[in-house]
Amino acid sequence: MNQTKSTILIVDDDQSHRNMLKILLGKWGYVLEEADDGQVAIECVTKKTYDLILMDIKMIKVSGLVALEEIKKINPAIPVIIMTAFSSIQTAVDALQKGAYDYLTKPFDFEKLKITIQRSLEHTRLKKENSQLKDSLGKKFDSSKIIGRHETMRKLLKTISQVAGTDATVLIHGESGTGKELIAGAVHYNSNRKDGPFIKINCAAITETLLESELFGHEKGAFTGATRRKEGKFQLADKGSIFLDEISETSMAMQVKLLRALQEREITPVGGEKSINIDTRIIAATNKNLVDLIEKEDFREDLYYRLNVINLKVPTLRERSGDIQLLAQHFLQLYTQKNSRKIKGFTPDGMDKLVSHNWPGNVRELMNTIERGVILSTREYLGKDELQIEEKVIMSSRAQSATEQMFDLGDKTLYEVEKMAILKMLDKTGNNKSETARRLGIARRTLHLKLKDFGVMP
Ligand SMILES: Nc1ncnc2c1ncn2[C@@H]1O[C@H](COP(=O)(O)OP(=O)(O)OP(=O)(O)O)[C@@H](O)[C@H]1O
Ligand SMILES: [Mg+2]
Repeated sequence: MNQTKSTILIVDDDQSHRNMLKILLGKWGYVLEEADDGQVAIECVTKKTYDLILMDIKMIKVSGLVALEEIKKINPAIPVIIMTAFSSIQTAVDALQKGAYDYLTKPFDFEKLKITIQRSLEHTRLKKENSQLKDSLGKKFDSSKIIGRHETMRKLLKTISQVAGTDATVLIHGESGTGKELIAGAVHYNSNRKDGPFIKINCAAITETLLESELFGHEKGAFTGATRRKEGKFQLADKGSIFLDEISETSMAMQVKLLRALQEREITPVGGEKSINIDTRIIAATNKNLVDLIEKEDFREDLYYRLNVINLKVPTLRERSGDIQLLAQHFLQLYTQKNSRKIKGFTPDGMDKLVSHNWPGNVRELMNTIERGVILSTREYLGKDELQIEEKVIMSSRAQSATEQMFDLGDKTLYEVEKMAILKMLDKTGNNKSETARRLGIARRTLHLKLKDFGVMP
């Protein structure tokens, strides 16, 4: 279940009750500590942190309610589940108002106890993940601000400042490496939702079934392996923004579900019956031409219009080659600092090489080239020899010979040949399904069916 075992503090002045919980929770794989009074619990929390506290309300010296208030002041992140006798339900309600995560009535329904513990631990885990993500994105956004003086970038930044404050859905498009994710971050961090989470999901990186549960969450038992309930990214992005990267890579079935999320502002977790309202701003990105995909019936037109309320086009680096110098200086500074090198700048032929290249991989390619240069260089200035630009030509000739080999049919069946062709193309496109389907001249859905048939996809 968890990689590291969760530690739970049991607080109860009834020793037999503590022992019973210790045996039970121990069996479920938790590490346990105990305290026989509210005051002892408070002291425990000042010394270390716990994943969860299970606390009785009625204790002779310091009651659960008092201890709860103190614990929330010392470490508000630890969830506290209150245990109470049925008769004091009002106290349980008070406890919830004072920040308890949940309450359980005695005598325990063990199944309910188990679920409540799991749910609260999952909740904390997600919250932690969420804030770590927010931290790292916040930092990333700060340190590598958006560099660019070219007219197209100025316009883009101006549009961002105009639309960030609204809740309108944003569709960002631009070639790979142009800075779409950075722009999405700028929209979020310049909006009224900036203190809320910025949750990112790459729709191309996971299989369709997994994507649905990642986005919308799932109920316990929704599918094999769903041993507990899980919140989806839409719920995690509550009061914040969700960034749907590579939106073109979603299947038609998924697009219907996304359309509903956008239109009705509600989602249904996998295996769930009730729909949940969502309060999140949607920012999507793509490096494909969605209008072309609509024509090929690979993308829903209605979803496109819902997404395309505000359209941000990120220019390629070759369209704004005047910015190359500026970006190069920026990345040089970044990587000399990071690698503790003392490189002062570029030689004239080094800079010439950078400015005259056409950068098919855009800012990311430039950034990688400079990082490599900084690491390789032994001189004070980076010259053309240290600035090694990746040779795409060599790659494509290699790919060509692979295709030639592919047509050595031997005594293969048509099925085998087809499987080989599809897998090779997937490999060539770096597992990009839409691109694979396009290049093979088949519909994305056909590709999915075939992959299923080959046993490559669930
Ligand atoms: N204008 C910019 N100023 C500074 N850094 C930038 C700029 N644009 C992009 N970068 C940096 O280049 C890298 C690539 O940017 P990003 O990941 O946002 O691109 P992308 O368009 O999402 O790429 P992909 O389509 O490959 O996912 C990141 O490290 C980002 O910080
Ligand atoms: Mg990206």
